[in-house]
Amino acid sequence: MKRRPLVIGNWKMNGDRGAAVRLAAAAADVAAALSGVVDVGISPPAVWLERAAAVAGSARVLAQTSSEHTGGAHTGELSCAMLSEAGATGTLVGHSERRQFNGEDDAVVASKLREARESGLEVVLCVGESLEARDAGATLDVVEGQLEGALAALDQLAGIVIAYEPVWAIGTGRTATPEQAQEVHAAVRSWLARRFGEAAAAATRILYGGSVKGSNAAALLSCADIDGALVGGASLDAAEFAAICRAAAA
Ligand code: 13P
Repeated sequence: MKRRPLVIGNWKMNGDRGAAVRLAAAAADVAAALSGVVDVGISPPAVWLERAAAVAGSARVLAQTSSEHTGGAHTGELSCAMLSEAGATGTLVGHSERRQFNGEDDAVVASKLREARESGLEVVLCVGESLEARDAGATLDVVEGQLEGALAALDQLAGIVIAYEPVWAIGTGRTATPEQAQEVHAAVRSWLARRFGEAAAAATRILYGGSVKGSNAAALLSCADIDGALVGGASLDAAEFAAICRAAAA
């Protein structure tokens, strides 16, 4: 079974308000052109979620992170309810930059995932190994450990998308080969099948992220278990992002 592709642009901490509105409007155009064929999403900086959502049309809008707390004395944090009210229908959870630079360990990732789901947000759970782990032959141990850490307490996978983003391929221009990516995606799907059953695993989208561009998207997205892309740098260029979305349609 081939799942409908999902391509999400993660803008990270880039751009300004004008760029956010322009990129969101461009995402709306490509989402409309590929309606029913490819699902398109954007993940803007939180301060521009509301403006971006206003012009994003049928492109889905996701937060880049969300609090594990429902509310209260958590200075600087944004709750899932706040993000929803600003127009987000989903959130990234466990991006490697948050794991590396904001101290988010598996326990925090699991709490954020639980809170987001209870709040009705779709979750894109990010997993991926460091270069050291890959070189040590520990890729699948790391990825399966992150899946276990985040998903152990769940009884079903509805509302969850997985993004495999090898840390060594993020922002480096060094992309996993389609074979390297497919190997991990297949392992992720088998892990999901063992834990949640074949049907749930077959219905879950697993995205690849790490230096995806218009020029390499088609080869990656043609792999059996690669169901879309989580795009960083290239999503800041509307034409490049549209080219990746179109490659997902092929
Ligand atoms: P790049 O596409 O810039 O490598 O970033 C990938 C990523 O981290 C998306 O979440």
